[in-house]
Amino acid sequence: MKQLFIFFSYFILVSCTSKSTAPELTKDEAYSETYRPGYHFSPSKNWTNDPNGLVYYDGEYHIFYQYNPYADTWGHMTWGHAISSDLLHWDHLPNAIEEYVDPVSGDSTMIFSGTVVVDENNTSGLCQGKDCMVAIYTSHVHARGEGKRQHESLAYSNDKGRTWTRYEKNPVLDIQRKDFRDPKVFWYAPQQKWVMVLVVPDHHKVQCYESRNLTQWKFLSEFGPLGDTSKIWECPDLYEMSVTGTDQKRWVLSLSGSHPQGPTFVGVQYFIGKFDGTKFTPDDPKQLPLYVDYGKDFYAGIVYNHLPTEKSYPIMIGWANNWAYANKTPTAPWRGAMTIPRELSLRQTDEEIRLFQKPLDTLSTLREAEIQNEISGKQLELEVEITLNSAKEAGIKVLKSGDEETIIGYHAQAGELFLDRTHS
Ligand code: FRU
Repeated sequence: MKQLFIFFSYFILVSCTSKSTAPELTKDEAYSETYRPGYHFSPSKNWTNDPNGLVYYDGEYHIFYQYNPYADTWGHMTWGHAISSDLLHWDHLPNAIEEYVDPVSGDSTMIFSGTVVVDENNTSGLCQGKDCMVAIYTSHVHARGEGKRQHESLAYSNDKGRTWTRYEKNPVLDIQRKDFRDPKVFWYAPQQKWVMVLVVPDHHKVQCYESRNLTQWKFLSEFGPLGDTSKIWECPDLYEMSVTGTDQKRWVLSLSGSHPQGPTFVGVQYFIGKFDGTKFTPDDPKQLPLYVDYGKDFYAGIVYNHLPTEKSYPIMIGWANNWAYANKTPTAPWRGAMTIPRELSLRQTDEEIRLFQKPLDTLSTLREAEIQNEISGKQLELEVEITLNSAKEAGIKVLKSGDEETIIGYHAQAGELFLDRTHS
């Protein structure tokens, strides 16, 4: 007899509501719309894609995000902004860095994905006090008559991210390419310098640069093509992690892959290896590619910068969506949401070292009443124990009515959990 325990917990989760903001909506209105996720971050209205500039600073977790302030489809990319004390309840703030048009040339610039760092020692000279926040983003320029160009630019904030000023000598990195984007920047303590990774998407390359001051950048090395190259590469990240239960450390390079022509599997792949301050060298992998997530809705995942020291693991948030249908999901007045924050760990498995992840520990604090029978509600955490006997698969149907259902199940032979939303 095969016995299986699926642990969804039996608790209704308290909705993660926006405490302030959403100017047009009251707290009760804002998060009660059909399909509004209760505890995933979503903008009060309009379109979002990638999370940007995830950073912890002075008691606040910030999320910036690709945002269209004018519509519920992609366009006019601007950095939206919200803050949280626990990564679960978010306060929306005014847009941080907005699309702009150059008054002289008429060129318009969208603010594509990027990072925020805390410049602790004012290495940039942009801080009024001892430290400040600096954003490094891709400036996506539509030059009149010349088509598009992408380069990397800075903006800085001296008031805990409430207002942002674009650096007057932008761009800070330009290799004269049409596609060159998504800088992730972190402080590399052993050599007291900033490191940037970003992609040349169509060449399947991650480039690595260094800087002492965030304003001048020097090329270091290149990684790729390797692993899954069936799609363009976007949104890279590079971070060091301990291997659980050992005294080993490894660096993880993760990046997203999206197919320009459409609905193939898209997602975040990762490589495990070493980084010496100049070059990322992957371990000799027996099995590639490796993916962070096998679902359809996990893209542009990046980890938090500058986490408080008691957090010993990286925390990743991704865009819970897929370019194949993101512009068409039937939600209003918003479109797009982020994943639950995920705690990452590295573990030695029977094969090799692998990346593991679990929902943020403190998610359980959203639990409200425990219900044993007659379960119904919009957000449920279900803890289920199933005895399979000879069944090939078993599971639960949620949101069932008429011809519609969503199945959360377990496939015995494959030993896999699945989510079937064919009839959702
Ligand atoms: C990934 C992406 C990034 C880009 C941003 C534009 O989803 O295509 O490469 O910076 O979205 O919104």
